Amino acid sequence: SAAEKGGWSSFMRKEVAEQPEAVAKTLLGRVVDGRVVIPELESFGDEELRGIRRITLIACGTAAYAGMVAKYAIEQWARVPVEVELSHEFRYREPVLDEHTLVVSISQSGETMDTLMAVKYAREQGARTISICNTQGATIPRESDAVVYTHAGPEVAVASTKAFVAQIAALYLFGLHLARVRGTLSAEALADQLAELQAVPEKLEAVLAESEKVTQLAHWMADTRSVLFLGRHVGYPIALEGALKLKELAYIHAEGFAAGELKHGPIALIEPGQPVFVVVPSPRGSAALHPKVVSNIQEIRARGARVIAIAEEGDAAVLPFADEVLRIPLAAPLFEPLLAVVPLQIFAMELSQAKGLDVDQPRNLAKSVTVE
Ligand code: G6P
Repeated sequence: SAAEKGGWSSFMRKEVAEQPEAVAKTLLGRVVDGRVVIPELESFGDEELRGIRRITLIACGTAAYAGMVAKYAIEQWARVPVEVELSHEFRYREPVLDEHTLVVSISQSGETMDTLMAVKYAREQGARTISICNTQGATIPRESDAVVYTHAGPEVAVASTKAFVAQIAALYLFGLHLARVRGTLSAEALADQLAELQAVPEKLEAVLAESEKVTQLAHWMADTRSVLFLGRHVGYPIALEGALKLKELAYIHAEGFAAGELKHGPIALIEPGQPVFVVVPSPRGSAALHPKVVSNIQEIRARGARVIAIAEEGDAAVLPFADEVLRIPLAAPLFEPLLAVVPLQIFAMELSQAKGLDVDQPRNLAKSVTVE
């Protein structure tokens, strides 16, 4: 009903707008005196967390992309190998697991059957399990050794938005907790990263306040038949998520690629007028990445692509080669995905509405897939 939507024209619009709050509430009470405090993880003693040799993140859909983002952060901070796998692929390949493997499932609903079966399987094999979940008392948390809830609030629109940023926030908290316990980050580095995490809600507000340009772009592009998305490092899963949102909401053929993979195939798709979104890493981050992405942009532009760059405020290097630039606030590299995803969500949502589609309930999709 209109009342449930709180005055918004769709749940999707409401949930996209609630993202700053989704992250803020997920962090609330969990950062105390510059330390991560997660009482829900008490059953995992520090000794046990130090003994973990490998982490496998399992999920489906958008939640799996949250896992892909978190892989970069957890490995960098806690120096433990992290792999990400789709629940249904994990379950049926007889993965090698033992008590030193931690399996972290990510699920908004906590009811996705493929993920539930994968968690059960992991436990049978002796792995330890943690659930990142947005729904109190759902089945997956009940079947896990521990749960860290995301506090995004109920997500009604079928395609996931605010749960995604909340999942990344929860996984980052976990990664920073693990780093402190394992002694892999200095107190100063830990404090810096926590400050970055706590600054995310305010930066998300700033991204949302700048969404007019994205709306305009979606209206101009309402007839588009195919869109490509490129990113590197943490921008790569964001490219995949941008493509998924466009498929789900606007029924447009879309593909996300790792920008470095362009020359190994996807560049053959570029023809004059092909729209390509590029998630540009900060020039202040890894010195190696930014120029590589700028040169990817030049390569596709030379072949006629229409380039829409998502780039940090003040990054002038992209200006000569981009047809459109969507700006995000300055953030440390690992925190950029939380901001860069928003214009992509809004683009898909606005395009769906421009096409007159049901943005909350796209055809053929279910909010929670409870069959294998
Ligand atoms: C469905 C939804 C997606 C969601 C996926 C995983 O396919 O349409 O938006 O990402 O399930 O759902 P979960 O509840 O496990 O996060």
